[in-house]
Amino acid sequence: MLVPPHGGRLTHRQAMAEEAAELLSRLEDSKALTLNSRERSDLEMIGNGAMSPLEGFMCREDYESVVEAMRLSSGPIWPLPVVFSVKNDDPRVQPGESVALKDESGTIRGEMVVEEIFEADLRHEALETLGTMDTSHPGAAYLNFLSGRYLGGKIRSIRWRDTETFPDYRLDPRETRVLFRAKGWNTVVAFQTRNPIHRAHEYIQKCAMETVDGLLLHPLVGDTKNDDIPADVRMRCYEIILEHYYPPDRVAVSVFPAAMRYAGPREAVFHALLRKNYGCSHFIVGRDHAGVGNFYGTYDAQMIFDRFDRDELGIVPMKFEHAFYCLKCGGMATSKTCPHDSDKHVFLAGRKVRSMLAEGKTPPPEFTRPEVAEVLMRAAGKGDDR
Ligand code: ADX
Repeated sequence: MLVPPHGGRLTHRQAMAEEAAELLSRLEDSKALTLNSRERSDLEMIGNGAMSPLEGFMCREDYESVVEAMRLSSGPIWPLPVVFSVKNDDPRVQPGESVALKDESGTIRGEMVVEEIFEADLRHEALETLGTMDTSHPGAAYLNFLSGRYLGGKIRSIRWRDTETFPDYRLDPRETRVLFRAKGWNTVVAFQTRNPIHRAHEYIQKCAMETVDGLLLHPLVGDTKNDDIPADVRMRCYEIILEHYYPPDRVAVSVFPAAMRYAGPREAVFHALLRKNYGCSHFIVGRDHAGVGNFYGTYDAQMIFDRFDRDELGIVPMKFEHAFYCLKCGGMATSKTCPHDSDKHVFLAGRKVRSMLAEGKTPPPEFTRPEVAEVLMRAAGKGDDR
């Protein structure tokens, strides 16, 4: 039996086939509001049930309760706002109106029935949810651009399969659940990532795999900050490492359409709850999960889980220490398993891989599998001149 979704039931707000055609023709004459790319990701994930129990963009009561108490107003744990922000050139709308939601290219992605328009204190939101208003934090910089006016209401989304990125890997929660059942898995550990896979990732994934039935590799493919490695390159790294280093019957790969908030601890809980909706019973939280710069402590994103009741969370955080390659052990380890001095330790981080690539240096094998390094060097335009 797979874990139940958050709130007990998978929501589904996606208009399918004929219903989508009918919705589109109805929305053609409606006022249209513009989704930025984070909102477009959120719309997709409310629609497909990944954000269960949400059925739309948040109204004030939920928004305030989430910001203050990390809960929806009806009670379930929910650590981050999922909101639609009014843009400067959006037409005026009234509660009760049905409006089209268009992406920045003008394609209709769905509908919202406007329930409430409210002013938000974005500085307060930034401080509570991100812990900072400093605009060198990408999440705070994002909030700094918003109007401060949010629009809440239930949505319906439309799925345009022909223009989706990574169509072969874009499984929604219903589909991952079907896949896990077909594989005979009851316990599944999810791995969130926004970086190319390195040896520390592989190590903690494989440690986790020793105790569960299967691994869901779930790279995030929504917006990331500019200097993160693009999602298509990251996916190629996954394809190559799976081919060479993972047992195919124990691993599933799918993309996670969310945008990064870089909200550290709160985002770790958010990432976990959404993976529960995909059918995962366990979730990997390593060092500085969803962090950026030095805004969060190394293990803040692990400690936040202790504030919630295990049963209420409904997904088990698997916490891992900072992993490194130990030259003396001749393998990956952490301070829990290795007795040697730090001069024997090669520490790995996405940040470090990026800077080596920028300098045209091939990341060493203690850091990245050679097959992955080759993909990264090619993508960086450095060929395989190692
Ligand atoms: S994240 O922003 O998506 O969390 P990243 O892709 O770097 O970033 O990390 C994916 C997961 O691996 C996170 O749970 C992170 O904490 C964990 N992780 C990354 N590097 C290490 C490491 N060296 N040791 C332990 N955990 C790590």
